Amino acid sequence: MGITNTVTMYVFLLFATAVAKPTLKTSTQQELESAVILSQLALSHQAEVFVELLNATQHHLSSFYQGGYCPYPYTKVLDECFYLSAYELNWSEARLTCQGMTGDLATPRHLYALKAFIIEKTGKEEPPLEVFVGAKYFHEEGEWRWLDGRTMDSSNWSPGEPNNNGGKEHCVDMWMKKHPMMNDRSCSSQRRFVCQYQPPH
Ligand SMILES: *[C@@H]1O[C@H](CO)[C@@H](O)[C@H](O)[C@H]1NC(C)=O
Ligand SMILES: *[C@@H]1O[C@H](CO)[C@@H](O)[C@H](O)[C@H]1NC(C)=O
Repeated sequence: MGITNTVTMYVFLLFATAVAKPTLKTSTQQELESAVILSQLALSHQAEVFVELLNATQHHLSSFYQGGYCPYPYTKVLDECFYLSAYELNWSEARLTCQGMTGDLATPRHLYALKAFIIEKTGKEEPPLEVFVGAKYFHEEGEWRWLDGRTMDSSNWSPGEPNNNGGKEHCVDMWMKKHPMMNDRSCSSQRRFVCQYQPPH
């Protein structure tokens, strides 16, 4: 190859590159861009899938707990999880204990199901069993309420209760020998108590 030929070829190549470059660059860029867009789409799609998966798992987990599973030492009673203590504490210590068990003092929606559960567990104790539950007198509202905010149904009080015996009965227990069985009791009394599991939301 002579010098002239070589120079001609360079010139041609330069010319060709100059002409071809814009289209080449554009198509390469386009390819790159679409590749980037595709992988971004893929990533964001993956992220969406992960979010959905996580959400589904959480949803499943919470319905798993709400729908029927009661972790030890709780027992399922209808659709709620209860634990009956074997020992006695005053009301506020009982509440702290329940809170330390991922729960709170019981706020049963089905009082008679809980009563049945307690009697099944204990038989007919002498003296008849009284257990603290999660209800008390709220001084500000001047009302007896469950800890979940519901007002206590007055039809569930034992005959003659609440009587605020001795002027210091501001906590609530369930008195197994009574029907109905709700009774006001001094918060500093020592009683067995019922905790209720609070599933994660
Ligand atoms: C999570 O799942 C629930 C129930 O399936 C649904 O209502 C909610 O929209 C979902 N949230 C997200 C962020 O996907
Ligand atoms: C409950 O018991 C604890 C620990 O013995 C005590 O500190 C607290 O004052 C008691 N509460 C009531 C209302 O008696």
